[in-house]
Amino acid sequence: MIMKLNIGVIKGDGIGPEIVTEAMKVLDKVAGVYGHTCNYTQLLMGGASINVNGIPLTDETILQAKKSDAILMGSIGGDAKTSPWYQLEPSKRPEAGLLKIRKELNLFANLRPAILYDELKGACPLKEEITEGGFDLMIMRELTGGLYFGKRQTVEEDGVLTAHDSLTYNENEIRRIAKRGFDIAMKRRGKVTSVDKANVLDSSRLWRKVVEEVAKDYPEVTLEHMLVDNCAMQLVKDPKQFDVVLTENMFGDILSDEASMVTGSIGMLASASLNETKFGLYEPSGGSAPDIAGKGIANPIATILSAAMMLRFSFDLDKEADAIEQAVEKVLKEGFRTIDIMSEGKTQVGTEKMGDLIAGYIE
Ligand code: IPM
Ligand code: MG
Repeated sequence: MIMKLNIGVIKGDGIGPEIVTEAMKVLDKVAGVYGHTCNYTQLLMGGASINVNGIPLTDETILQAKKSDAILMGSIGGDAKTSPWYQLEPSKRPEAGLLKIRKELNLFANLRPAILYDELKGACPLKEEITEGGFDLMIMRELTGGLYFGKRQTVEEDGVLTAHDSLTYNENEIRRIAKRGFDIAMKRRGKVTSVDKANVLDSSRLWRKVVEEVAKDYPEVTLEHMLVDNCAMQLVKDPKQFDVVLTENMFGDILSDEASMVTGSIGMLASASLNETKFGLYEPSGGSAPDIAGKGIANPIATILSAAMMLRFSFDLDKEADAIEQAVEKVLKEGFRTIDIMSEGKTQVGTEKMGDLIAGYIE
């Protein structure tokens, strides 16, 4: 079926504009080959929006985002030490825009795949005996609850400055993300590792209880529980043991960065943030990397793979998504590398060239 894809584009800050440009190039190529058309609406968020509107996300932008079928995003934020954005109160800084759009669009399910490509074994900091045979895991992070959305304030108590952050989950929030986790596991290797801190936190004890209830509907899936501190250790000790890692917002934030690093580079990892419908926001797992912005050296692959996830999850265009993923594999096999994944004997290329090569391999 030939489709018209209405895509909201948030290029964002730092390396965002460079990497999104390459992902759009690849999307246009795949659309051309398969007869689809991509309609892009540029949306401002983060620092780019602060510069124009004074706030990181306007209601108008939220409205436009809601009208799109899906959103492709780069990255937001700048250097906290030097950027004027960080002189603003916390609720007006770039990151607040990202948190707000996730909440407004109810993007509660964050999928962060971490795959060790055979070709990139050299970039992986782990010993070869640990990574032998590669690994392929999926972090399923709850994205609209927990600490990042709880009530917070800094007050003086008895003359002492005191900060409060609250971590709240209700059983419905846990149930819907758990279901997503089990659904994904059914399509993968059938294992869910639910990560919590149930030896300390009430929210984790409820998490564990609800996850166990949901598991009853998925007899084919093996469920195990793991404490988050142990999980952080297991990810570097034996990443192959994991299939789907199901966890709450902050644990998922931390573990997904760790998981990306053991694949060699955060520049390789895509992500999808989904709600109950087909709508999703797709962004690389990495940040805005202001230190390398504008230099033309950022790795666009994570964003290109996020575009592939968008085709798969929001548009059901599996063939087209496969075509992008295969083109990425081919480019790696042919020995092309951006600087973050460069190793001896390979050919180093910049952001734009990497996009050209991947688009060129789609036919
Ligand atoms: C991420 C980022 C964000 C998060 C920040 C920028 C708010 O670290 O997407 O992982 O913590 O969710
Ligand atoms: Mg993070």
